[in-house]
Amino acid sequence: MRHILIADPDPETAAALAESTSRRNLELVVVQGADATLAALEGKEVDLLVADWHLPGLSGLALLDAVRARSPETSIVFCAAFGTVEDAVEALRRGARDFLCKPFAPEQLGLAVERALDSAKLVRENRTLRRALEERTGPERVVSSDPRMLRIAKIVQAVARTRSTVLLTGESGTGKTVLARAIHRASDRADGPFVEVNCGALPETLLESELFGHVRGSFTGAIKDRAGKFEEARGGTIFLDEIGTSSAGMQVRLLRVLQDRVIERVGDSTSIPVDVRVLLATNLDLKAEVAAGRFREDLYYRIHVITVEMPPLRERRADIPLLAECFLRRFAAENHRPIRGFTRAAMAVLEGAAWPGNVRQLENVVERAVVLCEGEDIDVADLPHDLAAAPDTSNIGPESLLAPGARLLPLKVALEGPERMLIEQALRSFGGNRERAAESLGINRSTLFAKMRRLGIHEPRSSPSSRG
Ligand SMILES: Nc1ncnc2c1ncn2[C@@H]1O[C@H](COP(=O)(O)OP(=O)(O)O)[C@@H](O)[C@H]1O
Ligand SMILES: [Mg+2]
Repeated sequence: MRHILIADPDPETAAALAESTSRRNLELVVVQGADATLAALEGKEVDLLVADWHLPGLSGLALLDAVRARSPETSIVFCAAFGTVEDAVEALRRGARDFLCKPFAPEQLGLAVERALDSAKLVRENRTLRRALEERTGPERVVSSDPRMLRIAKIVQAVARTRSTVLLTGESGTGKTVLARAIHRASDRADGPFVEVNCGALPETLLESELFGHVRGSFTGAIKDRAGKFEEARGGTIFLDEIGTSSAGMQVRLLRVLQDRVIERVGDSTSIPVDVRVLLATNLDLKAEVAAGRFREDLYYRIHVITVEMPPLRERRADIPLLAECFLRRFAAENHRPIRGFTRAAMAVLEGAAWPGNVRQLENVVERAVVLCEGEDIDVADLPHDLAAAPDTSNIGPESLLAPGARLLPLKVALEGPERMLIEQALRSFGGNRERAAESLGINRSTLFAKMRRLGIHEPRSSPSSRG
């Protein structure tokens, strides 16, 4: 059932509407005057308002603004006996769906109503979709217990209420997009749009018109004027991802927006002011890009005011169980799987893995495991093999084991590397004499043989110092 409100003292309008829409599942309510119209909107959801342009009590435009403020989802169709073209243009520009001049045929009104209801439906569907998407992609907060991440959270709070440009760096999947959304949400622009553009995904010319818009005829295929993402993000935040690879031309345009807060559409030299907060992200080392001459130095300094570096997941392993549990709850609910948690062994694998794809990879691994898991707990078998595969320890020395961010290994596995090195060194020092090597290592010969077999040591590896 769709609800239509009719605010037109002229009985012809209601009659025409009743006639032209009789077969649809509609509820028509007639009200008198502007006050009654606004009051009727308070109480319930109205899909469409059909109003006279010269309603007693309020001018058409004032009514339009009042309705849009009160009930943004309500479509509006105006009817006017003495409307001017300027009135119609202004009303449509400010969001009215249609503007009919009286007298009109019932079918004309019927068509306008049909169109307005369809677009109202689209708007509503869009909103539902966006909400679903936000629930799916946007955790309300950045999940972390890592001190570096908590410091980042503080920076976010501090910069959120400013319009400062923030550069987010870090490997892919570390949560740059999540953080950009968090900055937007914490800002006083939270009610404005958040517009995200992946600058690495489009070729230069397309990207320029995507960001800045274009005027008709500025290139083949530009059949109408079109506003770009910067205009779309007015009053809100624009998040430009993968900024490191942008072309020279793009960089010039970006510098201009950041300096002067104005843009020009492609093919037009008119400056359009845009009140937009700019957030940028890159997984490249911009300083190196500057040194290599691929990134403008002046732009670099302009965007380098506040930089947030997202640490890779392997450098904040305490977050792994937190994130894993959080993803588990989400995917279990989404897929209606009654899964409780992870077995200890599975969690150990997660905590020990290298995570080159960072949080995104962990998220995918958990989603897959939730789908595959047949028991109550996710076990090692539900995880991808390569995650749990025995690591190659042949080159692991004490430094690499203790390096910051090094992969955590079970003690027994971790010690294999150093043990192998020591045995090989002893064998070399005694020219392959196993008895003396064993003696120097403080173990008996059979233990040495067993270890050599287990570690796959056959010959002493030659090294210059052992010769001669
Ligand atoms: N701290 C976090 N808490 C919850 N989810 C996160 C966090 N960091 C990343 N994610 C999730 O991991 C995925 C990748 O994050 P994203 O922000 O897109 O990374 P990036 O932009 O750095 O490539 C997203 O699905 C996101 O929801
Ligand atoms: Mg991203």
